[in-house]
Formats: sequence, C-alpha cells, structure tokens
Amino acid sequence: MHHFAYKGGELHAEKVSLERIAEAVGTPFYCYSTATLERHVKVLTQAFKGLDPLICYAVKANSNQAVLTTLVRLGAGMDVVSEGEIRRALAAGCAPAKIVFAGVGKTRGEISFALRNGVNHFNVESEQELDFISEISTHLGARAKIALRINPDVDSKTHKKISTGKGEVKFGIPYKDAMRLYAKADRLNGIDVVGVHMHIGSQLTQLAPLEKAFTLMRQLVVRLRAEGHDITHVDLGGGLGVPYDGSTDVPPHPDDYADVVRKCFGGLDLKIMLEPGRLIVANAGILVTRVINVKKGDARTFVIVDAAMNDLIRPTLYEAFHDIWPVTEKLKNAGIFADVVGPVCETGDYLALGRKMPAVATDELLAIMSAGAYGAVQAGTYNTRQLVPEVMVRGDQFAVVRPRQTYAELIGLDRLAPWLAPTRPEPVKAAAPAPAIARKPEAATASAGVSPAAKRTPTRRS
Ligand code: LLP
Repeated sequence: MHHFAYKGGELHAEKVSLERIAEAVGTPFYCYSTATLERHVKVLTQAFKGLDPLICYAVKANSNQAVLTTLVRLGAGMDVVSEGEIRRALAAGCAPAKIVFAGVGKTRGEISFALRNGVNHFNVESEQELDFISEISTHLGARAKIALRINPDVDSKTHKKISTGKGEVKFGIPYKDAMRLYAKADRLNGIDVVGVHMHIGSQLTQLAPLEKAFTLMRQLVVRLRAEGHDITHVDLGGGLGVPYDGSTDVPPHPDDYADVVRKCFGGLDLKIMLEPGRLIVANAGILVTRVINVKKGDARTFVIVDAAMNDLIRPTLYEAFHDIWPVTEKLKNAGIFADVVGPVCETGDYLALGRKMPAVATDELLAIMSAGAYGAVQAGTYNTRQLVPEVMVRGDQFAVVRPRQTYAELIGLDRLAPWLAPTRPEPVKAAAPAPAIARKPEAATASAGVSPAAKRTPTRRS
C-alpha cells in the first residue's frame, strides 16, 4: 500500500498535488512519500513481532540522504556495499554498530575504511577476502566481526539478472566449503566469527526457495555451533518482492515471510538480521514525467515523454513492469494501446511496451508508479541528460531532496587534455603587410573546463 491517490481528480502524494510539484520543480522528477516509508517499516516490524530483528535497509535501493535519514529515525540499520554507502549511512546518522558491510568485491581500502569506522560486521564473499580482512584488521590492531555469505545453490525463480543464489553466479561461498572456511576464519588473526549470511535474489515472489535456503542455513548454524563456533546471528538478506500493480506475480505478504523465518530458525536463540531494500522504498516512490508528443507510427502508437531509460532503466534492463497513471484522473486502461518511450536514441528506451492506457496529449503529466527502489540510484546521464531531481513529501509539505543537476555541473565535470587547449582566434589579416609578431605560447590547460556558454545553459524544464 502507498500514499499516492487521486483527490478531486488530481493525483496527490499524501496531501500534495503532483501538478504543484511539477510546476515548482519541472519534469521529470522522482517523488517519495514519507508516510509510505513509515508504513513499510511498520508492516515489516509487526510481521516479525517477537523476533526483534535488526532491519538493515539495503542502501543500494535508494540512497538519497533524506530517505536514509527518515529510515534511521525509524530505528533502521543499514546494509551497505561500498565506501560511498558507508559514508552515506554515517552521514544520515546511522550508528556504525547498525551497519553491515556486504559486497562481492570489497577493496582493501574499503575494508580498512569500514574497520576504522567501526561497522558492525562484514558479510564475507570469498576466502581471499577473508585473508584481506584478517591482514588489515591485524595491521590496524582491530578485530573484524564476520559472517560468511553462503551460496546455497537455490533457484530463487526471479529475473536472471537479479538472481543471486544459484551456484553459477559470482556471489557467496559454496555451501560445501562453508565448514572449512569457518574453521579457517577461526584460526585467522584479527577475526571474530559471529554469523551466517545469505541473499538469494531480489523481487522474490515465492517463499519456497527462501524456505529451502533458510533450512540449509539452520543446518549450518547447528553444525557450526557443534564445532564450537559462537554463531550469534543469521543475516537473511533482502529480496522479498513487491506488487508492481498489473504484473502477474503477486509476492507473499511480509507476515507469511516472517512465519517461514520463525519456522526455520525457531528455538536457536539467534539474532535475526534482515536487509530489505525494495520492500521499504519501491512503492514509496514514483517518477513523474510530461508527455512531449504522441506519435502515430505505422504499427504502433508512441507516447513520447520527457523521462527516459537513463532516468529509470528497470523496464529495459529487467523487462520490469511499472504501472502508469495519468496525473489528472481519467478512466484507467481505457483509450489506446501505446509504447511509452523516452527521447533517448535507442529502441530500448521505453518505460512501457504495448500498454493499454488512457489517451493522453502533449503536456499531460504521467506518474510511473513503484519507482522508489532502484530508480534514481540507477539513473545516468546518457545523451547528456541531467540527473533527475528527487522530491520528498510529508503530509502537506514537500521538499526538493536532490535538485536537478545543472548542465554546468554535468558538462563541467569534463576537463580538456592540455593538448586540446582552446586556440586563440587567428588575427584578422591586415590588407597591407604587417611586421611579423611572435605568437605567445599557448597556455597550459590542465584545469580548462568547458566554455562559459555551456555553463549558462538553463536547466531542463518542461
Ligand atoms: N542484500 C543484498 C546482499 C543484496 O544484494 C540486495 C540486493 C539486497 C539485500 C536488497 O534486496 P531487495 O530487498 O531490494 O530485493 N536493480 C535491481 C535489483 C538489484 C538487487 C541487488 N541486490 C532491480 O531494479 O530490480
């Protein structure tokens, strides 16, 4: 459930009209609802009542500082996968003791940064990474708490690109190697073995694969404890899917997910850790875009909008379905069959294909629903398009929590190589022969940016 609804025929985020935000901010823009974020944390917490899990929100799903700060204030910890995400979590006020550091390729610099900042523990992805962590923590005179991420070789039945629990993918340590590596970890300097970690994929719509993997983790915990390892927690990753309205796969309710966790880990006196990302933010965000024009092709109708694949890549990358609502209420699903496409020069630039939707015209606003997770964070600037602004709503207030990138910021990041220094214009040749003037050597331009003209270009507005 979310807090985007029609009031008086206009789509609102909580109590704020999206038309009003569009006037103030321009389009396209992402819009997040605080009440929806709060609701999702509450629903998950209630589902796990009695288990008192530590919910470490997966920062990668949406790392806007306003989103992180909202979640930290609701008591969430953070699951991070890079130094950048550690910095974001700390900047949002997350206690280091509530930060877990995952990621399949942690650099030595990142490991050192995490240790110096006192993160709770590392979810370790390989034997070599274990060695790195031991070396670095010994060098720093620290102790690194670790869990091994175990790959249970379970098919999570989700999209191939976001399935992470099969034996053939890059993630985790094979189940068959787990006992040996835990024994090794125990012998290594600077390491304290504390837990077991798994994450088998994202947008999971079936509980059976999770139950299968949880059962293997339970067996592992029992065996590890029998060998004398002090396993205090199990980190179950994230992955629970959300309803993208209109899609055929209906995900399980968090209550049912929690029941499976209870069934699999009951009686073990384990701290349960969860890393939900999508579940918390997906339906708390939308992408608002304006229709540029409606183009009737020979075979299809194209609704060309000002948001594109660089702003929301999920439809083209994962064949993801996002519902599309007109901001001014119309009969849903009536009218036309159309592809909703962006202005980017790729046939793969679409937000919806063959969608039954209301007839729309130039300048109308559309809301791409359920875009709060893996939307803005996966945006890019392809075709030299500015990163889209992000707006957060709370009740009747809204705030721009990330302004639209300016062209000066976007183009001005580039530097000319010294040999590309702008040349002085050739002097106009005088009619009569003039005495020869020695040309000054060209100035070094290591710091040369773009021309002032580029910096003056206004921001993209509809
Ligand atoms: N923990 C780990 C170790 C993960 O790799 C992930 C997501 C999560 C937790 C959070 O999973 P969630 O609860 O959000 O499903 N960009 C893709 C999704 C990539 C997920 C990557 N890992 C998409 O747009 O569907």
